[in-house]
Amino acid sequence: MELVNELQRFQFTRLARGAEARDGADVVAGLTSSPKTLPCKYFYDAAGSHLFEQICETPEYYPTRTERSILTRHAGDIAALTGPCEIVEFGSGTASKTRLLLDAYADGAKEVHFVPIDVSESVLRESSRDLVTRYAALSIRGFSGTYEQALAALHPAPAPARMFVFLGSTIGNFRNAERRAFVARIRDAMATGDYFLLGIDRRKDPAIIETAYNDSQGFTARFNLNILAHLNRRFHGNIVIDNFTHRAFYEPRRFQIEMWLESRVAQQAALADLGLSVGLARGESIRTEISKKFDPVDLAAEFTAMGLGQVALWSDHKQWFSLVLFRLEAKVDGGDGAAP
Ligand code: AVJ
Repeated sequence: MELVNELQRFQFTRLARGAEARDGADVVAGLTSSPKTLPCKYFYDAAGSHLFEQICETPEYYPTRTERSILTRHAGDIAALTGPCEIVEFGSGTASKTRLLLDAYADGAKEVHFVPIDVSESVLRESSRDLVTRYAALSIRGFSGTYEQALAALHPAPAPARMFVFLGSTIGNFRNAERRAFVARIRDAMATGDYFLLGIDRRKDPAIIETAYNDSQGFTARFNLNILAHLNRRFHGNIVIDNFTHRAFYEPRRFQIEMWLESRVAQQAALADLGLSVGLARGESIRTEISKKFDPVDLAAEFTAMGLGQVALWSDHKQWFSLVLFRLEAKVDGGDGAAP
């Protein structure tokens, strides 16, 4: 009886095999560019998602813990400001932080609608099943696929409002132009009065940031190297993982951490399904991730130019991390740097 009820409250749509995208054209483009790069979404196969969870528990990786502390304090304020709304979350993962939000939104509510979007189908299914058993008022409509695919597939905005949620400072993985384009796409999917809750990692002493991406237990290194294992499995590759070394350093001019995989030897690496074979010189590196650190004043100006007004900003006492709530003031076009 209960089980039937719970199954009814969890609907799921597979938009693609997510990080395991079909054609791998993005992998070919990245590995044939200079410098070589890989899209960071390929981190998140089942093993990579698990390693990321372990990173979040290291003493060095402060963003998750800090964001959680802000949410613990302020989820009630967020819910009070927005009122009832459907929560659409990008990169929900295990949704452990989302629970703090759901606690606030479920408090006294007859129904709460949650739309998680994640590249990892297994993680999404598992966390959604868990959530519907925990919250009797919760309905979930999940999507596995890329953010772009999910935005395109999203049902029309519900009444009374929708709140897009993008936590963890994952927005820092975009380059500036990509970020503006992404925010513009979300803005276009919003109705006037809808909200956007964003988690941002802030600029601080680079030593603190570098330590967070070089944890002493080596989870970040394994997370970074796992992208190669994922590619091998997905595209029948022969990349020798041990031939690479994890590197992460702060690039102060761009306010970003960069993760690279440095080739220890001169080598050839092939991905059979993609018809790709690339040579790497000894010491040559593949960039796997950028993670930008933000000044909230600059970011608010960027969002305002796109029609998204800042409603509130919450931070920890060290100002290492912030949650920012934006609201679409009126439907507008432009502001994303694109020609009118
Ligand atoms: C989940 C993308 C926000 O950029 O800090 C953690 C991923 N990379 N350690 C980040 C990550 C290395 C993380 N995001």
